[in-house]
Amino acid sequence: MYKLSAKVLVVGDSGVGKSSLILKYVENEFIEHHLESIAIEVKQKSIELEGKTLEMELWDTMGIERYRPIVESYFKETQSIILVYACDNRESFDNLEGWLKQIDQLAEKRACKMLIGNKYDSKDRTVSYDEGKKLAEAHRMDFFEVSAKENLHVDEAFRCLAGKIAEEFPIERYCPEEEESRRSRRHSSRLLRKKSQKEREKGFDCWLRRMCFLG
Ligand code: GTP
Repeated sequence: MYKLSAKVLVVGDSGVGKSSLILKYVENEFIEHHLESIAIEVKQKSIELEGKTLEMELWDTMGIERYRPIVESYFKETQSIILVYACDNRESFDNLEGWLKQIDQLAEKRACKMLIGNKYDSKDRTVSYDEGKKLAEAHRMDFFEVSAKENLHVDEAFRCLAGKIAEEFPIERYCPEEEESRRSRRHSSRLLRKKSQKEREKGFDCWLRRMCFLG
């Protein structure tokens, strides 16, 4: 069975529900109160995709403005980014342009991007589905409206992203064990080549010495 692993960076303004989304997906839990993240936390979840296992590392980042430079410094090394806003928080949607600009500048071009409008359950919606969809299309991102609280569309969103990651990134690149064994196989065949080269040289030396002796 193939094993892939991928890093998924979850970003967006403070309070949009990044931690809640990850917590719901990984542990099926939901916490009502808002505990501002002050450090990056990583949770793992494996997902089966047509005979392959994708191990997703979900990086929950800090939304508070003062941590932005730290969060952005992680854009470079990620295979995928989930950008989150809250359907009932207009500002978090308007601020997406800023996030997208940084992603376009810093992230790998092939990184899979997904836009998530969280708090789909909220009665105080200020961002319409069409607005989210339009922005996602403009930046070639997949788009889901979800609710971490009510567990609506959370699994579908992550499954869709996992499928995209598996399509976009070849196994060789993101399978550390495979990479390691390939490296050690390459290393030992290089050693063998060196060894046989040395033996050939040694044989030639012997023959030369014998010729000199006989002559
Ligand atoms: P930072 O760590 O500050 O960046 O915030 P965050 O984006 O991780 O937000 P967090 O997950 O802590 O959620 C913020 C608040 O929104 C909490 O009070 C959650 O209970 C609430 N919340 C999260 N998801 C939902 C949801 O789907 N619906 C509703 N109604 N509330 C939600």
